[in-house]
Amino acid sequence: MFQSYFNLLKPFAREYRRYIAGVVLRQALMVLGGYSLVWALRLALAHTAVPEWLFVLAFVVFDAANMRFDLALNYFFSARISYPLFANLRNGALEKVLRMPMEWHQRQSSGELTGKVNNGVGKVVQTAEGLSRELAPALIQTGFSLIPLLIFSPITTPALLVSLAIFLWLTLLENRERQPFARRRHRNYTRDFGLFSETVEAIQPVVQYGQSRQVLRNYDRVQRAIVEEGLAEARVGNRFGFRRNLAITIAKRACQGVWIWQYRHHALDGAMILYLNMLTEQLLASFGGYASLLERIYDGMEPTRVLVKLMSEKPAIASDGSARPVKVAGARVRMKNVQFAYPRSRGKRVLNNLQLAIEPGMVLGIVGRSGCGKTTIQNVLTRMFDVQGGTVEICGRDVRQWPLEQLRGLFSHVSQDGGVFFSGTRMFDVIRFGRPEATLREVVDAAKAACIHDDICRMPLKYKTRIGQGGVTLSKGQQQRLALAQALVALDTSRKIVVLDEFTSALDSETEEKILRNIEPWLAGRTVIIVAHRLSTVRKLADEIIVMDKTGVAERGSHEELIEYGGWYAEMAKLQATGAPARLTRPVRNVRRSA
Ligand SMILES: Nc1ncnc2c1ncn2[C@@H]1O[C@H](COP(=O)(O)OP(=O)(O)OP(=O)(O)O)[C@@H](O)[C@H]1O
Ligand SMILES: [Mg+2]
Repeated sequence: MFQSYFNLLKPFAREYRRYIAGVVLRQALMVLGGYSLVWALRLALAHTAVPEWLFVLAFVVFDAANMRFDLALNYFFSARISYPLFANLRNGALEKVLRMPMEWHQRQSSGELTGKVNNGVGKVVQTAEGLSRELAPALIQTGFSLIPLLIFSPITTPALLVSLAIFLWLTLLENRERQPFARRRHRNYTRDFGLFSETVEAIQPVVQYGQSRQVLRNYDRVQRAIVEEGLAEARVGNRFGFRRNLAITIAKRACQGVWIWQYRHHALDGAMILYLNMLTEQLLASFGGYASLLERIYDGMEPTRVLVKLMSEKPAIASDGSARPVKVAGARVRMKNVQFAYPRSRGKRVLNNLQLAIEPGMVLGIVGRSGCGKTTIQNVLTRMFDVQGGTVEICGRDVRQWPLEQLRGLFSHVSQDGGVFFSGTRMFDVIRFGRPEATLREVVDAAKAACIHDDICRMPLKYKTRIGQGGVTLSKGQQQRLALAQALVALDTSRKIVVLDEFTSALDSETEEKILRNIEPWLAGRTVIIVAHRLSTVRKLADEIIVMDKTGVAERGSHEELIEYGGWYAEMAKLQATGAPARLTRPVRNVRRSA
């Protein structure tokens, strides 16, 4: 755990050493400052001609220089360590999140993940700050006060050291006892993040259903748990805090008793007692520094552990290091005996011995009942998930042997969930998300093909209009058309496969018709998969259509062939054309292949 923690801090080791050197100097100056009063008193007695204002001036100059040095040191720490460390950790966390496979993402809500990262990064930075801003000065303060104390007051110092040992031992015991409460409290912080962000995401249905109270009740339960754990910790803290401080107070007062005795017997002068007292106060203050630091380290342990675990996770789907880039002329897609179950579905197969072949430049339409696995095909093609049996090949090479980036760069898609809408982004940038170097001309051409250009022109700032989070300021149909424009702009020479999954489901038939006509030239020469419930969508573009059911490909052929065949497709076509109830005249399993 500590090793991984220090690994996170490694890039800043050099800056740390420089900072600590500065801190040593600052502490030395502080001790010198403390001793200066003793010098001044002795000097004043020895040289009565020196005026008092000169002492005052010397003190002020010394203090001002000290303050300047202190501020410069703090700035150095912020500029070279704490802010860069924060940025480094957050960049690293986002990079890791982007590399983790879908299965990993589905194990936690996005809010919980955000919570873990926020909490973890905050605590790592806080602990790093504590270690450098407090531990180093406290250690130095201990050293610089302990050495003169040992020299000038060897009788009292051992008592102080014993009290230091008791103090630290009690602090460790306290923090160990607090640990389970802290762990539960941090888990609840993560739940808090998850619940809060999911509520915000689902704000409209929650309010429309009138279920705000229910959500608040659940949220309040988490808050109450946090308060309870926090108060339980505070009670432990109080119990130990009293014992700890008592040990310190007794040691301090015992020292003062010894000095009074030495003063009476002229073994020490008043100035030296003042100095010794100041050193003792500094030594004890450094103990307090250790205690609060230990407390914070313990408090940060759980979130730090979670962050370290996240940063060191190895993505289950990653590029095979030895994978050579593939030469792509046209993209042939083959799925042979593919077996696939989602990781968290207890082995329930979605694709069962699936066989599929799509020739380069061909448009394949996929239809079938909801939940039969249409979108899953896209997921396994792009390695969002890996299949458990059989092979998925593109251009004759198993997708697991492709360099991952090249594989994903082969696709352009409109997903069933819509496009990518980062809040505050201008329309122009939304559309060129998949190819940020696209020109305005290219963006406008794609927008026209996707029939969204006129809508954008009606917006107040046209292509400079900024969208709300997740596209909330747009209608579902506008979101779909923007997603299509995104997919079209992304079509550079390397994106040879286009997957359009329910990409016109929110559009009226007239607009759909127009779009299908417009995009035909964009798709030419590419391998295209079109998934749709509305058969008219696939029919107009597809060279071949497959009907999927839960056991695989049930029917296959051109539109005309499938109508003639009279299976599920023919019944659906009839139902969608006339609204008449569907009655199958053929068993669904009979696969009919086109000639
Ligand atoms: N991430 C997932 N984890 C577990 N099961 C999943 C996951 N995604 C989909 N499924 C399940 O896999 C099956 C196939 O899902 P898929 O999304 O491929 O269906 P589909 O044919 O695209 O359906 P629709 O027409 O409704 O979009 C469904 O039973 C679904 O419940
Ligand atoms: Mg789907």
